[in-house]
Amino acid sequence: MTTTITVANQKGGVGKTTTAVNLAHGLVLEGKRVLLVDLDPQGQCATILGLKQESGAFNLLVAEEPLNQVIRLTDRANLSVILGDKKTATAQTVLSIQRAPISFTANKLLPAASSDGLDYVIIDTSPSVGELQEQALWAADNVLIPCATDYLASDGVFSIIATLKKIRQDFDWKGEILGILPTFFDDVTRESKATLQDLHKRFSGLLLDPIHRATVLRECAVEGKTIFELDPNSRAARQYGNLVQLVLGRGAFQ
Ligand SMILES: Nc1ncnc2c1ncn2[C@@H]1O[C@H](COP(=O)(O)OP(=O)(O)OP(=O)(O)O)[C@@H](O)[C@H]1O
Ligand SMILES: [Mg+2]
Repeated sequence: MTTTITVANQKGGVGKTTTAVNLAHGLVLEGKRVLLVDLDPQGQCATILGLKQESGAFNLLVAEEPLNQVIRLTDRANLSVILGDKKTATAQTVLSIQRAPISFTANKLLPAASSDGLDYVIIDTSPSVGELQEQALWAADNVLIPCATDYLASDGVFSIIATLKKIRQDFDWKGEILGILPTFFDDVTRESKATLQDLHKRFSGLLLDPIHRATVLRECAVEGKTIFELDPNSRAARQYGNLVQLVLGRGAFQ
């Protein structure tokens, strides 16, 4: 069975791509077969993996290329990718003009992913609201919401929860929220600690263990490496490793 996890938050720069890539690679290191799909026109999954951007998402969604033509195998065994670039923004426009059904992206991706025997499809999304983001959420069995522990963090979480409620009501979405992942946590600053407490109060059952602010995660993008490659002994690797275990059902919610 293939499990689809969409990483989303309408707020920008909260660690969505960092989380999607490291979760995907972490699952691969646990022996799973994973497809990472970049649905953000910024195309930054490629950057973190040290690959060149490609129009994979556009070619799948608009040029109607079959899944096996847009998937790239990577030199990380069992990690395949559909990369994105600025043409993904064109795909977004086309889908909205065509009034594509909310199931459009799921139907393009998931039947083939499932018959290929993939264990996980991880979808990275852009920090905006639109057809493609809604389709990516609708495709998800689980939605993971990274959320920077800074002022007004909960606003972004409330908006995505509202979007999920809407697609459950209007389009019979069957998925669940996997959790809210506090990111950029800094246990020295009052703002970060107060935000984490506030998130606990508002979303207690959904809050996952935080990922600390870590320069090494920024370096990953520069080096084109995941945290498990660049610094597997770091706290950041341990924290993303815990997220991987949670997804595998071996971890516990707080
Ligand atoms: N825990 C962290 N500590 C320090 N830097 C981080 C952390 N997580 C991510 N970063 C860095 O912060 C920047 C934004 O992260 P990322 O690109 O993952 O966010 P995003 O939510 O995908 O952004 P966007 O909304 O633009 O797609 C990147 O430079 C990334 O390397
Ligand atoms: Mg991103």
